[in-house]
Amino acid sequence: MENKIKDAGTAKLEIDGKVTELPIYAGSVGPNGIDVRALYKHTGHFTFDPGYTSTCSTESQITYIDGGKGTLLYRGYPIEQLAENSTFLETAYLLMNGELPDKQQSEAFVDTITNHTMIHEQVERFFHGFRRDAHPMAMMCGTIGALSAFYHDSSDPQNNEQRDMAMHRLIAKLPTIAARAYKYSIGQPFVYPDNSLSYSANFLKMCFAVPAEPYEVNPVIADAMDKIFILHADHEQNASTSTVRLAGSSGANPYACIAAGIACLWGPSHGGANEACLNMLKEIGTVDRIPEYIARAKDKKDPFRLMGFGHRVYKNYDPRARVMQKTTHAVLAELGIKDSAVLDIAMELEKIALNDPYFVEKKLYPNVDFYSGIVLSALGFPTSMFTVLFALARTVGWISQWNEMLEDKTQRIGRPRQIYTGATQRDYVPVSKR
Ligand code: CMC
Repeated sequence: MENKIKDAGTAKLEIDGKVTELPIYAGSVGPNGIDVRALYKHTGHFTFDPGYTSTCSTESQITYIDGGKGTLLYRGYPIEQLAENSTFLETAYLLMNGELPDKQQSEAFVDTITNHTMIHEQVERFFHGFRRDAHPMAMMCGTIGALSAFYHDSSDPQNNEQRDMAMHRLIAKLPTIAARAYKYSIGQPFVYPDNSLSYSANFLKMCFAVPAEPYEVNPVIADAMDKIFILHADHEQNASTSTVRLAGSSGANPYACIAAGIACLWGPSHGGANEACLNMLKEIGTVDRIPEYIARAKDKKDPFRLMGFGHRVYKNYDPRARVMQKTTHAVLAELGIKDSAVLDIAMELEKIALNDPYFVEKKLYPNVDFYSGIVLSALGFPTSMFTVLFALARTVGWISQWNEMLEDKTQRIGRPRQIYTGATQRDYVPVSKR
């Protein structure tokens, strides 16, 4: 990556009367950043920012979010335009390479990915080692991490060809592994990839086909699946992406780094929120119980939060939530689902929350996970698979960010510091004297 940050002046920091000048950098759009890298050397102080609310960990040219306006751009293109006009694989190419592919590049990329959809036959044994009731995300963490034991020829992050090969393998094999995690959890035989189908259609077939019956992929549903993947493909330096970058900063192999990202994504504050949101909507059960849950979300003594609401960066409607709401309606119409209790509850809950002073003042709007559970459930996925689908799509963002980091020669191993408040040095006391 060619570094593009520009000088934008200096900030002055005064500590005990001594002024230290810190460089300010500007990107192409968005807030500037103050460079504090030399702060400790010059002042003996660290910065303190738990949760990284004001910290840029990197320069990046992949994804831009304007949380105030509610915009999300992949390589400059608005998410709404990509969801409407692009395909997941074209979006993947864009995120990885910086530009939309021309016809030839697109065909070559689709061909490469399609040719890597199979997984080593012995990977199958990993699945059989899991308990039948294992969460599919547990199987994802384990199996993706295990890929580094199979693909030694694409594990060296310092080798360009190996890096490309690993990125292609990960995009291609994630659907196969995700579908197997699902099939294993419901006790059905694995379905092999069908390379005559599109990325999303093949994934749906691997999830829902059974050997005893013919399976036709509904193109409207495959298109919706593709849109959902596009919406989840990248989201700048979120927790799981930062985890992947941090793991990668030590030179760890690509499969281990993506497994680390999957582990982080699993949490209910992050990718696990779609599962938690649908469970919440089901628990609410009827529209008349909404006020009770709104009251609980506002009660500081109650740990309950309105799942699918709020975001660290968006202080406006999450643009992905709008597309997701539209896709949800399209899927329900295609499947002929006229009465959806959870959709009714979601829409009413959204209306009430958007007018409630607590949510208005804190700028808490629906996020991508608010509607995704409803549509994924209509597509036939159990809640335990929701985060798996998120991981499948986000793998494209993770590898793009990982690759960008490795190309950026200014990057060093990630290593935050701390303000230590524990015991100061003391002498060991033998157990007889404690
Ligand atoms: N329900 C009720 N109150 C909330 C909610 C919510 N969903 N979200 C934030 N708040 C309140 C929070 O209590 C705090 O109040 P106060 O200032 O009085 O202490 C204030 O809003 C700010 O919240 P925060 O926790 O400091 O904000 P954060 O940026 O650290 O957390 C979040 C962001 C997404 C973790 C949080 O909004 C949340 O827990 N939402 C529910 C889970 C969810 O939907 N997650 C999916 C995020 S989008 C997909 C993804 O990134 O993976």
